[in-house]
Amino acid sequence: MADTIPPPVVGEILGEVSTKRRRPEPTSVVIFGATGDLAGRKLAPALYNLLIEGSLSEPTQIIGVSRGEISAPQFAENLRPRVEQFSRTKVEPAKWDRFATMLDFIGGEFTDDATYLKLKDKLAAAAAKGTRGNVVYYLSTPPAVFALILDKLHQHKLITRSEQRPGVIGCRVIVEKPFGRDLASARALNEMIGSYLDESQIYRIDHYLGKETVQNILVLRFGNSIFEPIWNRNHVEYVEITAAEDIGIEGRGAFYEQTGVVRDIIQNHLLQVMSLVTMEVPASFKADDIRDEKSQVLRSVRDLTLNDVANYAVRGQYRGYREEKGVAPSSQVPTYAAMRFLIDSWRWHGVPFYLRAGKKLAERLTEVSIHFKAVPLVLFKEEAAGSVLQPAVLTLRIQPQEGISLRFVAKVPGENVQVGNVMMTMNYSDAFKRPIAEAYERLLLDCMRGDATLFNRRDSVDRAWELIQPVLQVWEATPGVHVYEPGTGGPAAADEMMGREGHSWRELVREP
Ligand code: BG6
Repeated sequence: MADTIPPPVVGEILGEVSTKRRRPEPTSVVIFGATGDLAGRKLAPALYNLLIEGSLSEPTQIIGVSRGEISAPQFAENLRPRVEQFSRTKVEPAKWDRFATMLDFIGGEFTDDATYLKLKDKLAAAAAKGTRGNVVYYLSTPPAVFALILDKLHQHKLITRSEQRPGVIGCRVIVEKPFGRDLASARALNEMIGSYLDESQIYRIDHYLGKETVQNILVLRFGNSIFEPIWNRNHVEYVEITAAEDIGIEGRGAFYEQTGVVRDIIQNHLLQVMSLVTMEVPASFKADDIRDEKSQVLRSVRDLTLNDVANYAVRGQYRGYREEKGVAPSSQVPTYAAMRFLIDSWRWHGVPFYLRAGKKLAERLTEVSIHFKAVPLVLFKEEAAGSVLQPAVLTLRIQPQEGISLRFVAKVPGENVQVGNVMMTMNYSDAFKRPIAEAYERLLLDCMRGDATLFNRRDSVDRAWELIQPVLQVWEATPGVHVYEPGTGGPAAADEMMGREGHSWRELVREP
């Protein structure tokens, strides 16, 4: 009897591309802005899940630093409902109690030297208990105070250049995005941090890079031989990258007025995703090889002229934004932006990349769609009359319902040649039957372990600011935001921008 070939096992783990994950060294994690939104919504839930999954080493200590005179137990009590709301696993009392013992708090102004003196004492006590001086500082504050905090940490010798001793990582700094407000301030911030720390100690975070589905872009492209041959201008008509949210600014009016959607999402999350979709094959999966290629492709993106901004960038603001707390009644800050980039590289010449992001849109959806070229000749024109013969689209669904789908045409059963669109879909949850960890879990752990692969290097942050600088410049000098209705697909001007080139956005659909 002939041997039967066993069917491939879908979801089987085939091996690790990178080196085995190791536990981090015992570390103190200092969170500046510990009573803020990000700390409650993302950082504390991430650290809680890392603890209960046994990913942290003993002792790990978390010190929150913020304004307000509250005790450490009070800090823990205040965090608890936030973690209960946002943790991906259920918070259990015994586990929470363990987590709460790791939490400490310093109430004080970031301008005040006393805050840093208290911190110094706490870090010394933690070092004696076993952290050996390993510290990760997380700047989870408004960008305007990054420089102040770094200066103070430097003055008080709380940050120093890397020490290379076994078991000692010394200090690392995680800087939240947006890294600076514009090109000049980002450069100044880079200069300043670079004068205090080595590049290897600076972790510029962009949580999109910690998302499983974003990391999968490289595995899809370079782990399969079928995609790379068609991943270029010969086969791709255009690429669409969307980050749509159905929520508004969620009480973050003061922050958002200083930021707007371009600084909040496009300069970082979307340009990073675009660089992963478009980069060349890296020499290896090591941090700097990947970061070299990402940076290289960003350098090939064509700079927008001021004139291009008028034609290829659209801004919108949801109706009702100006009534939000902390927002100016005549604010021109965009909560929606769409723009087109071209990449002057051998691979991508002539292929438009359309990026859009917005708040209060019809649905929450982040995805990349690669639209392939139409067939050169429809052989069955007459029979296919009436059917719409649409080109194939490969969609990388980043969230929600993480997965990948391919839309193509197939024959509709019957005696006539009628064609219809069909979908081939892979859902992460079905394929691997494993929970997907939150991006912040992965990134915090990587930083504690000293792996910077998923963090941004100075050159790519700089280049991303260069790319959006003309947009900021024009938009901040001239009012002209399009107001759109909440729960819709955004301003019509964005559809027109794409329509002029014969393309259209994927429709955003509101759940009934
Ligand atoms: C953050 C932005 O970086 O990303 C927020 O500051 C936004 O405004 C959030 O809501 C979206 O993240 P996610 O992971 O929900 O897509």
